[in-house]
Amino acid sequence: MNSKTPALETRQLVYAVENKTILKGVDLRVDYGEVLGVMGASGSGKTTLLKCLCGLLKPTAGEVWVEGVNIAPLSERERMPMRLRLGIVFQYAALFDFLTVYQNVAFGLERHRRLSQKQIRDIVRERLAWVGLEGVENLYPSQLSGGMRKRVGLARALAMDPHIVLFDEPTSGLDPVNAYQIDKLITRLNRELNLTAVVVSHDVTSLTRTCDRIVMVDDGQIIAEGTPAEIRASEHPKVQAFLRMASAETL
Ligand SMILES: Nc1ncnc2c1ncn2[C@@H]1O[C@H](COP(=O)(O)OP(=O)(O)OP(=O)(O)O)[C@@H](O)[C@H]1O
Ligand SMILES: [Mg+2]
Repeated sequence: MNSKTPALETRQLVYAVENKTILKGVDLRVDYGEVLGVMGASGSGKTTLLKCLCGLLKPTAGEVWVEGVNIAPLSERERMPMRLRLGIVFQYAALFDFLTVYQNVAFGLERHRRLSQKQIRDIVRERLAWVGLEGVENLYPSQLSGGMRKRVGLARALAMDPHIVLFDEPTSGLDPVNAYQIDKLITRLNRELNLTAVVVSHDVTSLTRTCDRIVMVDDGQIIAEGTPAEIRASEHPKVQAFLRMASAETL
């Protein structure tokens, strides 16, 4: 692997279920240290793309390169070590309901790292503080608001010190103040730890704040790519329509 190896790359990625093709040949590249935004309408294939990137779904065709390894042909078991190297913040938090906040954040550390209980406790407390959650360690997910659950999911991903984190709608369901805090956290992790991130979101304001580059997915294909300023200036009718809708939503 040399310094030009991208953190993540897909080549002609296709994902199909039964008789529906969800991803129709996606070429994507994410460089180390970059924050890439993925925007697009509901149902365009954003979550499916993230799931292929992290090895949760096996592509129907094409290649998915994670840190220099094509994981597309690998079995689920062979993809596992790669999954542990990526942090994933799921769209719907995906916490374990039968575990407390503390146990949820500590889960990966206890299973995959050789650490003392004290070291685990320090990491869990620190990550919860990063996402602005303190004093909730002993609560269960059902006792939290949607936004709090989301932040626990983020703390859990960050507990494992990943180099690359995939965020699926990290700010949806959060009020503007909390959304801003999460955006600031993503930017801080990127600047201070050189974290590579892929951020899927409908929230154009949030993507503009956090991303170096944005791609727009439409019906399983990337139809535009550029810096936030380039995307805003795009003359592609679907990009313009999406941005008009997004700004109408925030009024
Ligand atoms: N396992 C599956 N079986 C059948 N269809 C699926 C499956 N997973 C996803 N789809 C369909 O694929 C399309 C893309 O889904 P996906 O969840 O990737 O969209 P999305 O862009 O993340 O949408 P949203 O913004 O609402 O989260 C949708 O039409 C969805 O219904
Ligand atoms: Mg989705």
